[in-house]
Amino acid sequence: MDLFEHEAKELFAEYGVPVQAGKVAHTAAEAREIAAEFAAAGHPLVVVKAQVKTGGRGKAGGVKLADGPDEADAKASQILGMDIKGHTVQKVLIAQASDIAQEYYLSYLVDRAGRQFMSICSVEGGVEIEDVAHSNPEAVARIGIDPLVGVDRAKAAEIVQAGRLPAEAADGAVELAERLWAVFTDEDATLVEVNPLVLTDDGQVLAVDGKVTLDDNAAFRQQHDRFADPSAADPIEARAKAKHLNYVKLDGAVGIIGNGAGLVMSTLDVVAYAGEEFGGVRPANFLDIGGGASAEVMANGLDIVLSDPSVRAVLVNVFGGITSCDAVANGIVSAIGILAERGEEVRHPIVVRLDGNNAAEGRRILTEAGIGVVEQVETMDDAARRAAELASLAATGA
Ligand SMILES: Nc1ncnc2c1ncn2[C@@H]1O[C@H](COP(=O)(O)OP(=O)(O)OP(=O)(O)O)[C@@H](O)[C@H]1O
Ligand SMILES: [Mg+2]
Repeated sequence: MDLFEHEAKELFAEYGVPVQAGKVAHTAAEAREIAAEFAAAGHPLVVVKAQVKTGGRGKAGGVKLADGPDEADAKASQILGMDIKGHTVQKVLIAQASDIAQEYYLSYLVDRAGRQFMSICSVEGGVEIEDVAHSNPEAVARIGIDPLVGVDRAKAAEIVQAGRLPAEAADGAVELAERLWAVFTDEDATLVEVNPLVLTDDGQVLAVDGKVTLDDNAAFRQQHDRFADPSAADPIEARAKAKHLNYVKLDGAVGIIGNGAGLVMSTLDVVAYAGEEFGGVRPANFLDIGGGASAEVMANGLDIVLSDPSVRAVLVNVFGGITSCDAVANGIVSAIGILAERGEEVRHPIVVRLDGNNAAEGRRILTEAGIGVVEQVETMDDAARRAAELASLAATGA
């Protein structure tokens, strides 16, 4: 789960990572009130910042300075409702402005290839770090972190030095880096990024922006419910979750149902590959119905997959194991029956490939059921190709 900047900064503050004071506004009037509070406290200059879970807000015009309540109101009205890379701005952060002397970059992330953690630190921050890495690679330091050791003061100093931060920022940056590490580990984050990390004219080091990605697999031991963001959830994924299905929405046209995560993953690849021949047909989802797939689970799975309006054909790819193919075949037949009873008659073609335990019996059951929309194909490659073909035919209305 990704956090909004203002949520990331709330976490930072809890861990003593210095951030400027700020408050969230949902309307221009609220922005005006907050700016008035800052002005009354002697800080009329504020920054109005779009809160969206995507980068490049500044470039898109979503970060603006405002001098006093009137300007804050005006800038907030411009930014609220703005579309930034497909995200509509529904709230803005009104943050106290700082007199920035220099902007740096600091992050912690998981280095999967290296089986460790990593810090990226650079004296050239405030811009996209990918661009700096490209134009001036020696300015971007990557420092490996042993997960059993972590980041203590000495390691933090190593990071800050490797990033070539100047002496006047070193003490503040080292302390901030050490605290930021506590955010990263104690909150089970997979990414914590501060860009820019700034040195102010009066010598303070602050996190002016914050990006945090939390590891959902650790949610059971965290209090992260407060960050739940129903507006960001895909509605089909939310319904699948309620039915305990392992479903991930993708953007293609071939609905996929399989048993076992590995088989489903390779089915996605095979469909994407086969789909190239048909003008780039791609899988519409990942759905693993697991080992013991009952008719009910198959019905729920088909229901979910077919509720995606971009699906034009479905591929059911099952390798019979503990649940044998005859059970799966019966599951498919009753699933289609269950859906018809619910008034959701299946109209899209369903390509079924059964293999493994009791495959012959499974195929016989499906053949005998004589369901018009169901078509059986023997091999995985051919089934993927046929499903992609049917999806492209449906798309062109042929
Ligand atoms: N509180 C602030 N005081 C002064 N300047 C600020 C403040 N917040 C942001 N800025 C200036 O605006 C720039 C962009 O802000 P920020 O990094 O928060 O957004 P962004 O980088 O455009 O967004 P994203 O990280 O989503 O791409 C900063 O690099 C900084 O120069
Ligand atoms: Mg930024």
